[in-house]
Amino acid sequence: MYKLKNPIVILNFKTYLESSGEKALNLAKSLESVEEESGITMIAVPQSADIYRIKEETSILTLAQHIDAISPGSNTGSNLFETLLSSGIDGSLLNHSEKRMELADIDLVNSKLNDNDLISCICSNNVKTSIAVATMNPQFVAIEPPELIGTGIPVSQAEPEVVQGTVDEVKKINKDVKVLCGAGISTGEDMAQALELGAEGVLLASGIIRADDPKKALLDLVSKI
Ligand code: G3P
Repeated sequence: MYKLKNPIVILNFKTYLESSGEKALNLAKSLESVEEESGITMIAVPQSADIYRIKEETSILTLAQHIDAISPGSNTGSNLFETLLSSGIDGSLLNHSEKRMELADIDLVNSKLNDNDLISCICSNNVKTSIAVATMNPQFVAIEPPELIGTGIPVSQAEPEVVQGTVDEVKKINKDVKVLCGAGISTGEDMAQALELGAEGVLLASGIIRADDPKKALLDLVSKI
């Protein structure tokens, strides 16, 4: 189990061109240098094809965006746990709103991550889903109302009750499961509000990736902690 100090910033690279290929590596290096300057834990979530190079060239913790609930064999186009493991992943997101999974499949892949002492960050879309996935004892539950993703409207302002509700319910199930929140988070103020609501960090994307200067945006994100 990774011992991570709060607060935590997880940057989902998604499939933006600004965070793909060579630019994925540059972004990972920005995360690395902001982590060094600020002392805040930064985690990269690049596309599968960029993981190996980022792990070779930086020391940043790196998650896969998704792992399929499959065994080795004939599964063209899938993300196999074993291959990602040999690429150097430190864990994975699971059940992102843009890559939803069935409950039984989340459980299966989450168990593989837990059994290998890797980071599992299960995304949820509402408090009920947060409760269901918290029972699987992942390292993180990340609450992200899908309608706010990519809008720049921060969940910490638009739906604080969903963040607080997730924190309350998840902690009743297992106080060691860390709760993150995401959707529309981009500024230091958004992050400070998220922490005030009880979140232990944020999962974010466009506010940093599409900023003119992502490193500056990251520094601003952690400026009010
Ligand atoms: O996984 C992070 C994400 O879905 C939030 O996206 O662009 O609203 O920060 P964004």
